[in-house]
Amino acid sequence: MAKVITIAQQKGGAGKTTVAAHIAVALAQKGNRVAALDIDPQGSLSYWHGLREKRFGEGYTGLVFNALSGWRVGSEVARLRKQCDFIIIDSPPHTETEARTAVRSADFILIPVQPSPTDLWATKATLELAKAEKIPVKVLLNRVPANSRLAGIIREELTDLAETTLGSRVLFAAALMEGRAATEVEPGSRAAGEVKALVKEILALVKDEEEEEEKAPKARKKELVSA
Ligand SMILES: Nc1ncnc2c1ncn2[C@@H]1O[C@H](COP(=O)(O)OP(=O)(O)O)[C@@H](O)[C@H]1O
Ligand SMILES: [Mg+2]
Repeated sequence: MAKVITIAQQKGGAGKTTVAAHIAVALAQKGNRVAALDIDPQGSLSYWHGLREKRFGEGYTGLVFNALSGWRVGSEVARLRKQCDFIIIDSPPHTETEARTAVRSADFILIPVQPSPTDLWATKATLELAKAEKIPVKVLLNRVPANSRLAGIIREELTDLAETTLGSRVLFAAALMEGRAATEVEPGSRAAGEVKALVKEILALVKDEEEEEEKAPKARKKELVSA
């Protein structure tokens, strides 16, 4: 059963689409079956995926892709859950009905926030929505310039921050312009390293409790042997 990761943030331009595309590709590169859903009427992720189809060929983008309106998210997620390991949802820039549905469908919510006061204020609303739904959530500091004083202030203001931050790096935008992700264009780059670290962090947070339970008997066996 797929894990659903929704990228949400009330404020536009915080990096939802950039982060959604990068996480989707990085998870697919690790051998996961990944679906990417665009429920933002602006259709940026759809545009990116269109470029990806031109580059790699239709059906060869490494992703299951669909663009749909928010109210259809529930049924689409139910359909894809059985076919995929991860479903990444890029949501529209507000917390109205459509975005709320995407948040409710999620097993994990990632909120990108740029080091700016308006991003910070908008984040609190999205964070509250996630908390009200009792869904695990992390805030991702995105597009952080080197030595950002504001990033420091925001770190103090916000709870639930991801350990990983994404720097302000041209490669994140440049890769999207080619229908790709930083981990494909320059796997050894800092941008790619940050995305890999972020995915590692997310995987640790969403990993299955059932899997953990399966592992538990083995651990107990070891204990018995050493005893
Ligand atoms: N870490 C980053 N470094 C550099 N540019 C970024 C970064 N994250 C986002 N951007 C740029 O910021 C703009 C807004 O990002 P986008 O992903 O479209 O935000 P949203 O989907 O939340 O509206 C885009 O031009 C994108 O290329
Ligand atoms: Mg967007």
